[in-house]
Amino acid sequence: MSFENLLPRPPDPMLGLIQQVASDPREGKIDLGVGVYQDAEGRTPVFDSVQQAEATLCRTQSTKAYLGAGGDAGYVERLGAEALGGGHGLGGLQTIGGTGALRLAGELLARGLPDRRIWIGQPTWSNHEPLLRAAGLRIAHRDLTDPSRGTLRHEALLDALREAPAGDAFLVQAVGHNPTGIDPDPALWEAFADVAVARRLVPLVDLAYQGLGAGWREDAAPIAPLLERVPQLLIAYSCDKNFGLYRERVGALFYRGANAEETAGLRDHLLAIARVSYSMPSDHGAAVVRTILGDPRLRSGWLAELTAARDRVARIRTTLARRGRIGGVDFAALGAGRGLFAQLPLSAAAIQRLQAQHAVYLAPSGRMNLAGLNDRNLERFLAALDAVQRRSAA
Ligand code: LMR
Repeated sequence: MSFENLLPRPPDPMLGLIQQVASDPREGKIDLGVGVYQDAEGRTPVFDSVQQAEATLCRTQSTKAYLGAGGDAGYVERLGAEALGGGHGLGGLQTIGGTGALRLAGELLARGLPDRRIWIGQPTWSNHEPLLRAAGLRIAHRDLTDPSRGTLRHEALLDALREAPAGDAFLVQAVGHNPTGIDPDPALWEAFADVAVARRLVPLVDLAYQGLGAGWREDAAPIAPLLERVPQLLIAYSCDKNFGLYRERVGALFYRGANAEETAGLRDHLLAIARVSYSMPSDHGAAVVRTILGDPRLRSGWLAELTAARDRVARIRTTLARRGRIGGVDFAALGAGRGLFAQLPLSAAAIQRLQAQHAVYLAPSGRMNLAGLNDRNLERFLAALDAVQRRSAA
């Protein structure tokens, strides 16, 4: 083995953007790239509720001694109760963000599935596939795009699952589909539960944006058919977005086996995987979430902040949808989506020109983070889009 064999690699499409935006000196750059909430001033603030919880922790936390590979059990229990309604025979452990939860889930599935296969609808978050492959899974795709309707056909994944070998897994995003904002409707969630039961498939639900779609309770409601009816289930949860704790990396993996014994076995394996990967998650962010959820005053303050963030993004979506067609993009179609994201049908050249000539940053796929728009930059963004698209057409 020689390090000379390790050829340079392209930067990650999302994380590379963070650096590019940061190093762009132009005034008025518009960051519609990485999926973090921005307020009307273009800032990603620390929530007041988080700052208050941090102050409380500073005063009251009496030890920093190890907690173990499962992290903060109180955090996991409160989060499970608040986010998923508690019960359902779910076990849980704290993870390093939602990505860490996905990675643990992937490694667990790679140990347990007969063919190590997971079905994924495309497009999806740019890290889903590399991450799950790195965890040891084999990926089977279904293209969900429906150019005729300019939307997603989640049914295409369902059709594939109806033929999938028993014991396969499939990935579904619960809310705020990354990158399109188009979520499965309630009938589809019932159908996912039906097919999982009938063919003994394991759903891996990615729940990363609860509260930023239709509402805190509303955003977990669609997965009720899975929780109620599917025996084996994994839910990768992120608190990074809904608590604004991004860099603190706060997540959880909820899991359930076919019976209590199997669920206990899953826990043993997950703890073992965590132990050989990073030993245990860091404490602070999870302690903040536990503190907020355990204090009625902080909890209601946090919910108000989350609601304000959600409403702001929804207003941007409505404003854009009303604008109809600009630069060849049908913004009216955005009205059907929810959450931070929308996918614009732009060529790589147009995305590059937006960046180079107008300091407008989108993900390389054309994914746009709506939260990057505000009253000051929305018209500039639309004018830039129109300009680059005219140039492409010329
Ligand atoms: C995103 O999709 O932009 C975020 O989830 C950040 C990331 O890790 O890619």
